[in-house]
Amino acid sequence: MFICILIAFLVIVTLVTLVTTKLFNNNENFTISKEQLTYNELPSETKEALNIIPKFTSKGFTEPKKLDDKLYDKIYKFYKNNYHKAYAENKDESKYTKKFNNIIIKLDDSIINEITNNFMNLIKSWTKIENLEHTSTFGIREYKKNSILPLHTDRKETHILSAIINIEQDKEWDLEIYDHDLNRHLISLKPGEYILYESATCLHGRPTNFKGNKYANIFSHFKIN
Ligand SMILES: [Fe+2]
Repeated sequence: MFICILIAFLVIVTLVTLVTTKLFNNNENFTISKEQLTYNELPSETKEALNIIPKFTSKGFTEPKKLDDKLYDKIYKFYKNNYHKAYAENKDESKYTKKFNNIIIKLDDSIINEITNNFMNLIKSWTKIENLEHTSTFGIREYKKNSILPLHTDRKETHILSAIINIEQDKEWDLEIYDHDLNRHLISLKPGEYILYESATCLHGRPTNFKGNKYANIFSHFKIN
């Protein structure tokens, strides 16, 4: 009897160890979130980034803020007028797209310039950093039902300070983000709102399945020269 209990105990311990190791050491499957993480629990890419990229603000991200009305209207009209040009995102473009189920509507240069200028100024006034360089604002990414964005940090070469702009949604889908003290926050962005964040050092994602049918965001990224 005692041996059976011992064997059962050892099997459970082994399984728990295997699952924990799998979840916390494989960056692409880093989908388990906790109220607070320790440095050792971070994915290796995040640890690497933290070794070379300083923290620019005390917390690492802003509260949701309202986008300029005129800019939001312009983006929204573009989104609706160009919806027929949407295409499925290439799953090979990013390791973070593996659990996506999404389409992209590419933006034109005029809107990209307007978004870039707007967010360059917003990030400058938030961080007090002057020498920013825009690196990417690709398009409107519309996530579909059951999308998951595993927790991750962005490319440390080019995506240091970033913005997420919510364009449209038919259901809430909280952004999970960890501040510089590794406390978890759940952020609910409404259409027309944005958040600024230190994307290479603050772990972030949407690790729970999206229950709605559309969630459209723009991501704008900057680095520091
Ligand atoms: Fe990201």
